[in-house]
Amino acid sequence: MLQGLTLIKLGGSVVTFKEKPLAANIDAIDGISRALTQLDVPIIIVHGGGSFGHYWSVKYDMHTKSANYDIHGVSIVHESMIALNQIIVNSMIRVGLNPYGMPPSALTTGHKPIVAKIKHIYAMAQSKIIPVTFGDVVYVGGTKYSILSGDALMTILARVLRPLRIIFATNVDGVYKDRVSRELVNEIQIEDKRRSIEFFKASDTDATGGMQRKVTEAFKIASHGMDVVMINGLLPERITEAAEGTLKIGTVVKGRKS
Ligand code: IPE
Repeated sequence: MLQGLTLIKLGGSVVTFKEKPLAANIDAIDGISRALTQLDVPIIIVHGGGSFGHYWSVKYDMHTKSANYDIHGVSIVHESMIALNQIIVNSMIRVGLNPYGMPPSALTTGHKPIVAKIKHIYAMAQSKIIPVTFGDVVYVGGTKYSILSGDALMTILARVLRPLRIIFATNVDGVYKDRVSRELVNEIQIEDKRRSIEFFKASDTDATGGMQRKVTEAFKIASHGMDVVMINGLLPERITEAAEGTLKIGTVVKGRKS
């Protein structure tokens, strides 16, 4: 029987210590793994780069733009993402889950979806496997590579699979009304796009545009008629709540067909 798919992005700010190079936040990862054991729905996980992929992509000056980047950097960035993926996958195995790590190159050609492959991971998710993929440096053609962020990968997967629930977990509670009050907005409509993105403009920037990028992708997914939930992934119970549709603290970007 087809069940509602839950697509979850674990931001680099949740699974790593962003300020500390190559440092995974094992406690946060283990907490999320335990939270996932509570769920009885098909799940696909995408994780970010944090102090792994972003650390090296900054060192090698690599961006989302397709270009002739240092080829050794391509190896190093990719390898660091495989290493982080292993840490997350092994945490999930320890609590009895059935993760299946895979690079985005198994699902896309550059930034374009391979629809049949993406449908396969949904079928895998229905058989209790949890595909765990990630933002990565990807080959785009010729001698060019580019960074495919985990956020952009979320949009690619959401457009093909139209999950029941789409969750972005970061280290903040959601989208705030303004910088001064830091009042959380529970629900935003597509029309609020510009203001919400403006808010994050001055915030942290990394190879893929930090929080602003996440909000932009959330709106992009919502514009295809799907609700997107933004939550604090450092509190694993919020992931369970968001996946069960009982979220109390977070921001829902309401989907509407454009
Ligand atoms: C980053 O993915 C991928 C690389 C830099 C290789 P994301 O852009 O989704 O990572 P976070 O969540 O912001 O850390």
